[in-house]
Amino acid sequence: MNYPFWDVEMGYGILMALIAVVHVFVSHFAIGGGLYLVVTEQSARKHDDARWLGFVRRLSKFFVLTTVVFGALTGVGIWFIIGLLDPAATEVLIHNFVWAWATEWCFFIVEILAALLYYNGWDRMSARNHMMVGWIYFIAAWLSLAVIDGIIAFMLTPGGWLESGSFWAGFFNPTYWSSLVLRTGICIMLAGLYALMAASREKDASFKASLVRHSAGWGLVGLAVVAASMFWFLADIPATVMDTAAKAMPIPMAALGLMWQLALVLGAMLVLFGLVLPKAYHPLVGVAVMVLGLVWFGSYEWFRESIRKPYVISGYMYANATEVGKAEAYQADGLLAHMAYRTGDDGDDLFRHACRSCHTINGYNALKPLFDGMDRDYIDGAVMGTGKMLGNMPPFLGTKAEAGLIADHIYKQVDHRPVAEIHGLSGAALGRKVYELRCGSCHVPGGHGSNTESYADMEPGDLGDMLDMAADLGDRMPAFTGTSEERQALIEYLQILGKGGAQ
Ligand code: HEC
Ligand code: HEC
Repeated sequence: MNYPFWDVEMGYGILMALIAVVHVFVSHFAIGGGLYLVVTEQSARKHDDARWLGFVRRLSKFFVLTTVVFGALTGVGIWFIIGLLDPAATEVLIHNFVWAWATEWCFFIVEILAALLYYNGWDRMSARNHMMVGWIYFIAAWLSLAVIDGIIAFMLTPGGWLESGSFWAGFFNPTYWSSLVLRTGICIMLAGLYALMAASREKDASFKASLVRHSAGWGLVGLAVVAASMFWFLADIPATVMDTAAKAMPIPMAALGLMWQLALVLGAMLVLFGLVLPKAYHPLVGVAVMVLGLVWFGSYEWFRESIRKPYVISGYMYANATEVGKAEAYQADGLLAHMAYRTGDDGDDLFRHACRSCHTINGYNALKPLFDGMDRDYIDGAVMGTGKMLGNMPPFLGTKAEAGLIADHIYKQVDHRPVAEIHGLSGAALGRKVYELRCGSCHVPGGHGSNTESYADMEPGDLGDMLDMAADLGDRMPAFTGTSEERQALIEYLQILGKGGAQ
């Protein structure tokens, strides 16, 4: 918490994703494109095929210009945005990997220069020199990936670095090689998919068929590498990370299943339209296949980012920039004592550093709907208990008094009417809502922290006793502080849950 907090209404995640997604798409296009161009040029020259050469030349415009313009622009954009959104984690990455970044920038400069020479050299260079420049373009681009991959993979699996702090342990971390191969596969696949889109607009049917078949081959080879290395990548992620994700993050884990299906559909489309019916490769199919590829890639990046939660650097720094190693110091001194920049409103400052990078009160991932109708003490308990809830949030590392300040800050801004009035509910329906709001974040019936079976043999009186001692039932479980009507309705609903209903 050595940096001021940037208040932006838009969600941090969305803002980051907007820029990062464009950047990773473009940069992977550039690498795969480099390889596709030079390999295809080489074969066209060998067969002295002017039409193929013309196609490669037209394609080089897209690959080279996007790399140079968008790649460079969004690359700068990424630095800008991570510096604003996550200065503490950016600092850790720079401290540990400054020479890796420097190396990566050198490769990037070579890549850009070679790409420009390649693009401008079609008429000005000998065939041999032109292809050599093409190879330099691809190799430099791939080497820049090989460097950056170490840093990205480090954030998910810092491995031995956590104990030794060694650069090499952090760089060649447990998912380094699998993600490098996986990303290389993505590059090859994307180059094929883009070339397919270009080929789909070719007029001459037989030339189109050969373009499509060739490019579909690239797409399929890339996809095969991706699929195989995805198993490898998943196997290299520590079981503890996957276990937490499976328990507290149902959506990313479900998305993983969808990603396999998506890959199958993509593979089937490439075989059907690319290999079996290449002449009929319609521009719309070209766009659809391209979009499928990008959706798959985007989902992979999102999945990788999601399972890292609650950390930004696994095991070292939480997503709200609090540090694992300082947990005791925070609890002893309070979070405020560790904040270098304070605005004078302690509740607001604490909220910013504990919750605000992922929640706003009323906009992005809003807390208000979750706390409307709740009393201040419940909110206090919920702040203390964030680390136990669904969603894999960082644990609250401040003091009890600081949790109270955050609770006051939130309570001021929520609806103070009772739940029954806000939602117009009564009886078991009210009970269900009360359960959702007061219990459901930590006990999802049949899911995360489920304990419905505990209610099976309990009479209403027992359930009432249980609610009276709620705060003693679990570490950081809040006391039950709802109104008597809510209490009655909740007991009714817990009985239904105990009988196995209402899930
Ligand atoms: C901030 C998280 C949190 C909230 C909110 C919460 N609990 Fe818990 N609860 C826990 C934890 C942690 C435990 C102890 C771990 C365990 O045994 O699963 C626990 C244990 C229990 C237990 C005893 C253990 C068991 O499995 O039978 C019951 C019963 C229970 N909670 C009911 C409730 C009810 C009812 C509510 C809503 C009024 C509620 N909890 C709200 C976190 C929470
Ligand atoms: C690293 C990001 C992050 C931080 C920091 C964070 N949250 Fe969350 N929180 C989430 C996500 C993601 C969800 C799940 C949203 C969903 O599934 O709809 C969530 C869900 C919740 C829920 C509802 C749980 C449920 O699903 O029923 C509450 C309440 C909550 N957060 C409160 C807080 C409070 C209070 C803080 C600060 C003390 C905080 N969060 C800090 C990301 C975060």
